[in-house]
Parts: sequence; structure tokens; C-alpha cells
Amino acid sequence: MRDSHSQDVLILGGGAAGLALALELADRRPVTLLRPASDDHGASRWAQGGIAAVLSPQDNVADHVQDTLIAGDGLCDETAVRFTVEQGRSAIEWLLSLGVPFTPDAREDAVYPYHLTREGGHGARRIIHAADATGQALIDTLLAHARRHPAITLRDDLSAIGLLRDASGACAGARCLDGQGIPCDITAAETVLATGGASGLWRHTTSPLPACGEGMLMAAELGAELMNLEFQQFHPTCLYDPTGTPFLISEAVRGEGGILTTLDGTRFMPDIDPRAELAPRDIVARAIDAEMQASGASHVLLDISHLPADTVQAHFPTIHAHCLRRGIDITREPIPVVPAAHYSCGGVATDFNGRTSVAGLFAIGEVACTGLHGANRMASNSLLECLVFARAAAEALRQPSPPRHPLPSPLPEARPSIASASVEAMMRRLRDVMTRRVGIVRDDADLMRAAQDIATLIEESQTLRQAHAPDRGLANLWHAVRLAGMTVKAAQARQESRGLHFNRDHLYHGPDPAQPSRVNLPPHWLDQA
Ligand code: SIN
Repeated sequence: MRDSHSQDVLILGGGAAGLALALELADRRPVTLLRPASDDHGASRWAQGGIAAVLSPQDNVADHVQDTLIAGDGLCDETAVRFTVEQGRSAIEWLLSLGVPFTPDAREDAVYPYHLTREGGHGARRIIHAADATGQALIDTLLAHARRHPAITLRDDLSAIGLLRDASGACAGARCLDGQGIPCDITAAETVLATGGASGLWRHTTSPLPACGEGMLMAAELGAELMNLEFQQFHPTCLYDPTGTPFLISEAVRGEGGILTTLDGTRFMPDIDPRAELAPRDIVARAIDAEMQASGASHVLLDISHLPADTVQAHFPTIHAHCLRRGIDITREPIPVVPAAHYSCGGVATDFNGRTSVAGLFAIGEVACTGLHGANRMASNSLLECLVFARAAAEALRQPSPPRHPLPSPLPEARPSIASASVEAMMRRLRDVMTRRVGIVRDDADLMRAAQDIATLIEESQTLRQAHAPDRGLANLWHAVRLAGMTVKAAQARQESRGLHFNRDHLYHGPDPAQPSRVNLPPHWLDQA
């Protein structure tokens, strides 16, 4: 052990939620923010569409609440929805004060100074955006401010592999590894998880380096309750590009008029839902999946080429440039697309200030489950949630807390290091199971088989851990296999089809409002290394 710090607040994760919290808190309390280099590839930076908020005078809070409840398919916590939506405008005003370069609306008859686009499930234009690279603009701005703040210590040399507890069971900081794999404990009065979701448990994802639920599992190890894990969102339109890196085609493309067709040019969404391409994501992703299953095609098409070429280029410069590099001119031809894992609607259960059920431990952003998204998140409500709950957590954390003293947690004796290829092979096996058996459409037999396969992977991972030195990849694998096991348990327990959880053996949609699922880490999956 080489390093030990005592800091007031420790934030794990430097996406939109972690950075927003650091900035809102640092004038009151010193903050250490762990932002490993991989955070530059996290979900926030890749978010294209924008941030949903009631900004237009032609829109109102009641409608945004109602649209969110409908998309969430009877499982949203209405109080959480109202709480979030009501604070949308002030969150956007805060971002504008920091200088986030949102796209202006230069039209003479514009009802709001910034352009507002539409996405699935929204009955109004309410998505403020920075062209088609909103996440990047947001992160660049927040990060620039965080780098300049004297009370924010940014550490890109450490990644957390577990949480520390004190004698009362409260969270007292995190165990980390540096770039050489040397462990170091950071103690903290309060620790905040802002580590992202768990889309990396699946093979095809919309961002190149998605989180695999590490933060969720670290919280569960301390006894925190996880909620709604069975609701994994698959974004309907990821670029179909078998030899390229994952690349999202924003829902805003459909919001601005893009249509989905089969390979022979037949439009299919109007037959499935009156909202057609702008139905909520669960419905559109399932419709595409069904088309692909029925035809055997590897993808479907998304066509925006009927709009003037300069409009397409102005609205979607990033998508246009990326597709052009991959040989597709979206101003002239349709875009091949497939659904891919995009967002975890479940996570660590929190209150409206980001508090988890473990003292001293907070969770904000995709790692958390606040009740906002229910069974299916509505487009662009996620960055809104990051901002609103980060700012609410900052309120709760303003008063300094007494220091916490972690229980000694001895390091294992010297062991050989593991070859990264062994860890990668295990992760591939896990992703194969999740993709084949816990995907967009599930059934009881597949879920049972997934539970068996994952139990084997958990045993094998434990054996690897007991034989090798601590290692970030190995720690992530250990977190991932157990979170996958908990996800399958949650999916097996939900004996209905609702939102993103579609089980062909239980097509019945239970009564509304539905109950959230809650799951704790089984004691026999606790750390034994
Ligand atoms: C998109 O631009 O389609 C993604 C935004 C989101 O997931 O809300």
C-alpha cells in the first residue's frame, strides 16, 4: 500500500454526473474525483441527442411528466419524475452559465433562443442539444471548469476496485489500484458512485467502452439494494458496421423525420405503433428485432436522405462525418442500423438526494435507480437526471460529516499477475450468455440456462481471483459476473412483460402501477479472495 488520503468527499467517475456534483460542491467542501482515462469513452461523452427539459413556452411540466410516465410503462415513481422534470429548466440555465455551447435557434420566429429537437416518446420539441455531440460539449465544458477549481483534485491515475467500510457498516472510501496495479486506499467521509451503467455486460453496445456495472456491484457488496436490474435498454439505432467501432445514430435523426425500413425499403413502424418511429425505445427496438428475426437480415435501414443535404449536415455533423468515413453518405442513402445495449434503467436504489441504503454512500447518474425511468427510459431524460440528482446530492453533502475510519482490510499475499487474455476470454463468455439469453426478447428456458452459465462463470472467476494478484480487469470481471447473476435473478422474478423486459412466456402485462424489483447480493457471492 503506497498511498492513503483522507478527503471529505470522494467521487468515483468523471462523466456528467460526477463532474456536475464536483462543481456544485467544491465551493463548500474539498472533493477528490477519480476519473480514469476510460471515462473519456464513457456514456456521457458519447451521448449525442441532448437533454430533455421544459424550455419552450409551448411546452409544460405536466406534459413532460406524462410522456415520461407513459414511456416508463407503469413503473416510474411519479414523485421522482415530477421532482426531476420540475428542475430541468434551472439545470439548463446552470449549464448555460457555465458556457455549454448549445445550438442556437436563429430563426426569426424561434420560440426559444436554442434549438429544441424531438425524440421518441416526447410529445413536444424539448431536447436542447449541441448539434449531435451534446455529451462531448457537456463533458468538455464541465471538465474545463473542474480542472480550474482549486478544491477539486482530479485523479486519472487511480481506478476503484471496491469500497471500504467502517465498524458501523458505513462506507468509508474506496480501495483503488494505480496504473502499475499497486493498491491504495482513499478514505472519505462520504463516497459518491458516478460510475455509469452496465451495458458492457452485452456484446453489442452503442459506445466503445461502456461500464459493466462495477459501481453497482461495489455498492451491493456493502449491502446496498439494487433495483430494476431487468430493465436494460437497447437503443434501436446503432450503426451496423461489423468491422468498425460501435457508433450511435441518435434518436434525433428520427425526431427530425428519419424513417425506418426493411432492406427492400418497406416502412414498418406505422403498422406497429401510431407514434411510428417516435414510439418509446422499447417498442422500436423490439420491432426492429422482430423484423430482423422474421427476414433473417442482419440490420434494417434508417433513411434521412429525403431532407435537404445541408439540413442533414447542419443537424448531424458528427453522424454525417462518421458515416462518410465508413463509406455511407447519409444525405444520399439510408443508414444500416441495429439495436444495441445502451442504458441501464436499474441500478443502486437512491432517494432524491442520491443517498443509498448504506450510510456514507451516494449514487448518481446511470449507476443509480431513482425511480425516474421505470421500465423504459425516455430519450434524453438521462443527462437531465445526471444533472438534477448531482445538484440535489450537492445540497445533501454541503455540511461536512465527521471523518470515517475504515476497518483494516488486509491485502492478499503476493501472487502472480493474471494474463489479460484470460480475463478477456471470460468477459467474452459472459457477454455471449447475456446477448443470447438475456436480450431484447427473453423466455424462461433461456433465463434458466443463463443463470446456470453465470453460476459457472462466478465460480471460475473466484478461482482466478484467489490465484492471482489484484488487477483491475480481474476486479471488473468479478463485479460483472455477479451483477449479471443478479440481473438474471431480477428477470426471472418478473413474471410479466413490461417495458424493456419482454418475456414470451409471460406476455401478460401486470396491473399498474407495477412494483419495482429489489435485489441484494447473495451472501455466498461476497468477496472471498
Ligand atoms: C440518442 O441521441 O439517441 C441518445 C440519447 C439518449 O440516450 O437519451
